[in-house]
Amino acid sequence: MLIAANWKMNLGKFEIDQFSNFLQSNEFHDKLDVCIFPPSVYINYLNTRIECLPISIGAQNCYHEFSGAFTGEVSPTSLKDIGCKYVLVGHSERRINNNESNLYVQKCTSAAIKSDLIPIICVGETLKDRESGTALDFIEKQLIESVPSSFENIFVAYEPIWSIGTGKIPSSSEIKEMHKHIKQVISSKFNNSIKVIYGGSVNPSNVSDILNVNEVDGVLIGGASLNPKDFLAIYHSTVKHLNLYFSNN
Ligand code: 13P
Repeated sequence: MLIAANWKMNLGKFEIDQFSNFLQSNEFHDKLDVCIFPPSVYINYLNTRIECLPISIGAQNCYHEFSGAFTGEVSPTSLKDIGCKYVLVGHSERRINNNESNLYVQKCTSAAIKSDLIPIICVGETLKDRESGTALDFIEKQLIESVPSSFENIFVAYEPIWSIGTGKIPSSSEIKEMHKHIKQVISSKFNNSIKVIYGGSVNPSNVSDILNVNEVDGVLIGGASLNPKDFLAIYHSTVKHLNLYFSNN
């Protein structure tokens, strides 16, 4: 189970200090993976602030080349070098704002794998696709074109675009149907298996219902991960959901 916090282009040094002080007061369970994706310029800083905690660091994107004349791009090898474990690839905000195509996402994913990072490929349909009944087909195409032909350990984040930052989430049966579909597509087209996490308006009040869907292997949290109290509330709901106990109770 993975609890991932995508801070997007938010928080600075001062807030990172506050956030990490708050995390120091929490007990973390080693059976539950936690990863924070800060803005890339703060990856190192956050890493130094939480290095004593069992929390991984990830990057919000990477380029598909490892070095060279690519001004402003972020190399996956550099990300590995500064301690990243995961990298988000093809987040819908990048697909929309930076015109990242499925093929581009596939190339970045392959480069991330070669750099020994664990990619989390983001997919998600628009409201129009959801309402016209084509969401499953849309996601299938995104997967077939974005996932590299061979891989060992990658995640898919199912993030319906209409759910991001809106407070609206799909019903449990819609989440179940889509996560099952994603796993089936990966199994039939790639002869492989994959973990699928859900993202889109996850908060402390709805996380239990989301985790109760069997096919959900974790959550990718945006807005609610910026507030350390909400983030830890989500963490503790997940601990409860998994029936994990801490050594001192
Ligand atoms: P929100 O949780 O703010 O809807 O964002 C989800 C997201 O985009 C995470 O990558």
